[in-house]
Amino acid sequence: MSSDYQSVDLLRRMRRNRATPALRSLVRETVLHREDLIQPLFVRSGNGDSEPVESMPGVLRHSETSLVEECQKLEDLGIPAVALFPCIEPSKKDPVGTHACDSGNVLYAAIRSVKAACPQLAIIADVALDPYTNHGHDGLLDESGGVENDSTVEALCRLALAQAEAGADVVAPSDMMDGRVWAIRTALDDAGYQGVGILAYAAKYASAYYGPFRDAVKSGSVATPLDKRGYQMDPANVREALLEVSLDEEEGADMVMVKPAGAYLDVIRAVRESTLLPLAAYQVSGEYAQIHAAARLGWLDYEATRDESLIAIKRAGADMILTYFAAEVAALL
Ligand code: PBG
Repeated sequence: MSSDYQSVDLLRRMRRNRATPALRSLVRETVLHREDLIQPLFVRSGNGDSEPVESMPGVLRHSETSLVEECQKLEDLGIPAVALFPCIEPSKKDPVGTHACDSGNVLYAAIRSVKAACPQLAIIADVALDPYTNHGHDGLLDESGGVENDSTVEALCRLALAQAEAGADVVAPSDMMDGRVWAIRTALDDAGYQGVGILAYAAKYASAYYGPFRDAVKSGSVATPLDKRGYQMDPANVREALLEVSLDEEEGADMVMVKPAGAYLDVIRAVRESTLLPLAAYQVSGEYAQIHAAARLGWLDYEATRDESLIAIKRAGADMILTYFAAEVAALL
């Protein structure tokens, strides 16, 4: 039966290059390196132990001690950078995020300890007020409940300065206020921190995929989602992302970011083609959570889906990827 067919007369058979692992590796166009990966980490205030983030399996709100241990592991794995986010106890939050610039803010202690213990690791500090405000927004509210741009920018400059002083290598404004990159650059330079870089969350969308992160830093819940559409971008837009990137570039950003990643691969590609700056993509908490959730239900193959999600982001044009999978994936590379 099987010898009965007529073979097709084809000059090009695409499958020849796919026949063996060796051939497939020769023709592979995109490779993920551990040097591409940035591990986001949460550190909690107070003296408590690390605690798991329920909606992000494997992710902890670290105590300061366990944060340092984790960073030492990451440094040994060859991961170049971590992005640090504080989880502040509710009693320290207020409408204007006063605790952000309090010298007792756990973030500064954490930056200092990680810097001392892991000199090779680059520390990226997130600049935004949402971990510190009791309403969960990234800035200061005006009378109508909207986030006020210019007063927020002033507060962000203070936060970025304090992070630089603590030893952050890069500050990463994730707030989406207008003009904050320029203001932060100027504030850093005036204070003598010319060497501290700025990774601008340039195209950050108002995304439902941030749900588990807000659980992690306790800045909101999936049940009562915060509406950040007055400052974060509309998921429908891509030209606007290019404008955001070009403004952040003019304002002095050293690197730019697209966030989230998986649902915005076209934006990553478009930004890659519109700027010469290094481009980061943030595979956010919800992207991580949905792979875990489907795998737990037995509906997706965990490792295969994880790896495919990351190579797709790299293929789209990201030079570096912030991902909660960073440590486990780096260990395999
Ligand atoms: C807030 C901030 C958010 C994330 C990083 N910084 C959430 C938000 O904008 O509400 C999300 C990261 C993630 O979901 O993994 N400044």
